[in-house]
Parts: sequence; structure tokens; C-alpha cells
Amino acid sequence: MTQLAAEIRWMKGLQKGRVMLSVAAVTAAVLAVVIAGANLVSDELPPSLEHAIPALAVFEKNPYKVLYYYEADKQERYEAYQAANETLSPEDVVWRVNAGLDGEFYAVVQPVRDTKAMPLLVNKYHQLPADYVPADLAKLPSGKPATKDTCAAYKEMAGDARKEGLSLYAASAYRSYELQNRLYQGYLKQEGGNAAQVDTYSARPGHSEHQTGRAIDLCGSFGSLNDFVNTPEGPWVKENCYKYGFIVRYQEDIVPLTGYKYEPWHITYVGKEVSNRMHELGMTCLEEYVVKYVDHKPPTSV
Ligand code: DAL
Ligand code: ZN
Repeated sequence: MTQLAAEIRWMKGLQKGRVMLSVAAVTAAVLAVVIAGANLVSDELPPSLEHAIPALAVFEKNPYKVLYYYEADKQERYEAYQAANETLSPEDVVWRVNAGLDGEFYAVVQPVRDTKAMPLLVNKYHQLPADYVPADLAKLPSGKPATKDTCAAYKEMAGDARKEGLSLYAASAYRSYELQNRLYQGYLKQEGGNAAQVDTYSARPGHSEHQTGRAIDLCGSFGSLNDFVNTPEGPWVKENCYKYGFIVRYQEDIVPLTGYKYEPWHITYVGKEVSNRMHELGMTCLEEYVVKYVDHKPPTSV
């Protein structure tokens, strides 16, 4: 064979290879469409396709593993939580279990180690040390103490509210461990020792966000916490507080997750980055944010 003939043969082989590759790509695309269509009508993959597409088969068998915040050591807990909450999506199962929400409130408690973290997660699973006092307490206009950043953000928010004829008043902000303990014990007495009842509206000492100095209880023009939601200030704060770095922490849609009744008056300073992102995502639960954006990072943002 001449050099030229050999080169022509090699070129033809190459073209054939490309054609075969193209055919393979088109076949794969068609297969993907067929599988997607099949999944619309059935949860099960045909057994033949399970062998052909192992990755899809893995997803079908373990829908948790494909999530970027999946933690392998929690697989059994995901399955147990899913069994107890059949209608929950795999996404919700995984973040809730990661946040420890599959455990009873106050059953397994972890100490908060990094009190400077932003956001700072304090809840029925995470407890502040009894002697923790924020180092940078300043005063809100009402005279109540809160951290310096919380005070600055509050002043900005209250100033803008005033321009719209609304008047905000900070009734409570930083509370020491001892004060929270006195409050909790007082409520316990009022409720005839019914701790389960008190737990729906008052945090046990060490578990209150008020000890962080970043939480504020707001009153509006009617002057009481319970009435706040019925004043013009209540809805305004709910709609606008994220612009200043605050979230309404105990929202109506997440009562079983926070373990607290709806508290429209309780706002928490989490910083503008977090509050803006939660607002964009329509996310109301800080525990969910911490799992998805603090403990783990979405693949696109790393
Ligand atoms: N009322 C809120 C939950 C607290 O006691 O911190
Ligand atoms: Zn509060």
C-alpha cells in the first residue's frame, strides 16, 4: 500500500470513528429522554436500564446520596426519618436530619463553640455556655443591650421605619443566662410545672438567642409583643427586616421545626449576606440555611 493510500484509509477510519461517536451521543440523549419520560409515569427504572445506567440506579436506590449536603454516617437516620415522614422530599429529610431535627428537643445537646460565628445557631440542640456574655454589648435606643452590629442594624431599620410613619420599640434584647433561667422558672411556676407547655414559648437557659445579644423583641404602636403582628409595624418588619440583616426567627410555617410558637416580634441579626440570601431563596428556617450554606457549600459556590 502506498503512503497516500494508507493515509486515506486512516482518514476514513477516523471519520467512521467520529460517526460512531455521534451515533453513541444521540443514542445516549434519546435514552435519557426515554428514561425521563418513563420516570414521569413510574418510580421504578426498567431493570434493563438499571444495568445500563448505574448512576441512575444508585439515585433510585439512594435519593439522599446525590445531595451535596449528604453525610454518609447519617444514612440510617435518613431512612428512619423518611419512614416516619413518608411525604417528605429527600432534600428535606437530609437537611433536617443533618440539623439534628430527627432527635427530641433537648435530648442531645451540643455546646456552641464558636460564639463569633455569623450566623450564630442557638436552639434546642445547641447551648451557649452559662458564663457567655457577648464582648461587644452596646445600647439600643430603648436602653436595652445588644451587640454593636445588632444595634447599628436596628438603628438603620428603625430610622427607615420612622420615615414611613412607623414606630419601633425594642422591649427586650440581650438577656443573661441567669435572667433567662429566672424567666423560664417563672413561666414553669405559672404553668403548674408543665415544661412541655413552657418550652413552646420560652427557651431554657443557655438555649435562648437572647443570650447572644443578637435577638430583639419588638413592640409597635400598640405597645405589646402579642399585639405586634396587628400593628402596621408587624407586617412592615416581616417584609423589610432582611434588608438590614435581620430575620423573623420563629415563623409560622416552621413551628414544628423550631419548637416555638409563631413569634412575629422576635428578630435575629444574622448579617445582610445571610438575610438577603434567605430572602432570595424564600427560606424561613435558619437551621436549613446552616446545613446548606455553612456546614456545606453548594457546588457552584466553591
Ligand atoms: N421566646 C424565645 C424563644 C426565647 O425565650 O428565647
Ligand atoms: Zn425573643
